Amino acid sequence: MATHAGGLTADHPAATVRIRSLVRSFGDRNVLDGLDLDLGAGEFVALLGRSGSGKSTLLRALAGLDHDVTGTGELGAPDPVAVVFQDARLLPWKRVLDNVVLGLDGPDPVARGRAALAEVGLAGREKTWPVELSGGEQQRVSLARSLVREPGLLLADEPFGALDALTRIRMHVLLRRLCARHRPAVLLVTHDVDEAIVLADRVVVLAKGRIGADIPVDLPAPRAHGSAAYATLRERLLEELGVDPTAQEESAV
Ligand SMILES: Nc1ncnc2c1ncn2[C@@H]1O[C@H](COP(=O)(O)OP(=O)(O)O)[C@@H](O)[C@H]1O
Ligand SMILES: [Mg+2]
Repeated sequence: MATHAGGLTADHPAATVRIRSLVRSFGDRNVLDGLDLDLGAGEFVALLGRSGSGKSTLLRALAGLDHDVTGTGELGAPDPVAVVFQDARLLPWKRVLDNVVLGLDGPDPVARGRAALAEVGLAGREKTWPVELSGGEQQRVSLARSLVREPGLLLADEPFGALDALTRIRMHVLLRRLCARHRPAVLLVTHDVDEAIVLADRVVVLAKGRIGADIPVDLPAPRAHGSAAYATLRERLLEELGVDPTAQEESAV
C-alpha cells in the first residue's frame, strides 16, 4: 500500500482505497472539504459531479499527483495506481509498443506489452507512431499502458470525453471486459450520467466538497436505456446533480 498525506489505517481491511476527512484547498477555498470514500478491491465506482466540483482534484490526490495543493486527511491507495486522462498523453517520438512498455519493470516487458496491445485490439500496430492513430486507438494504447502494470487501482478522468459517440460505446465495452479480467478497483470520473450507469457497480456524486450521494447500480447487464429501473436511477442521479430531469434530456451537466 502506498500512503499519501496521513497514511492508511486498518479498520476497513476490505477497502483497497480508504479516504477520510480529506481536505484540499486552493487559496482559502476548500475544494474537497472533509471527504470520506472507500473502494473495495475490484469495485468499479463512477464519480459524478458538476464541472468544478473537485473531481480531478480528488483523482490527483489519489494518484499522489497533487503536491502543489494544500490539504489534510487520510488517504490510502494500493500500489501501483494507474491513471488514464482525457487525452492519451502518448510520447509522440516513441512507437506504440515503446509507449506501452516505457519504464515497465519485471520479466519480459516487450512480450507483456505486446499482449496488452492485443488485449485492447491493437495487435500488429506495435511499430505505429501515435500520430498515425485515431483518438479512440490512442486511448486504447493508454489503457494498455495502464493495465500492463496490473494496477490495484485504475483512475480515469473523463477518459472518453473527447471521443465520438460510437467510439465511446466501443470503449465502454472494452473497458468493462478489461476490468473483468484484470480486476483493478476503478474510479471513473465522468459528467455523463449514462456512462456512469452503464459501467459502474456504484455511483458516487461529489458536491460541496464531499460525497453527497452513494448509490449502488443494481441493474442486470446489459443495462438497457429503456428499462424502468434505468430511468429511475438516471432521474435520481440528475436530481443529485441539480438538473431537473423533466426540463431537458441532456445528460451532460
Ligand atoms: N491549480 C489550481 N489552482 C487554483 N484553483 C484550482 C486549481 N485546480 C483546480 N482549481 C479549482 O478547484 C475547483 C475544482 O477543480 P477540478 O477538480 O478540476 O474540478 P472538476 O474536475 O470537478 O471539474 C475548481 O473551482 C477549479 O477552478
Ligand atoms: Mg476535471
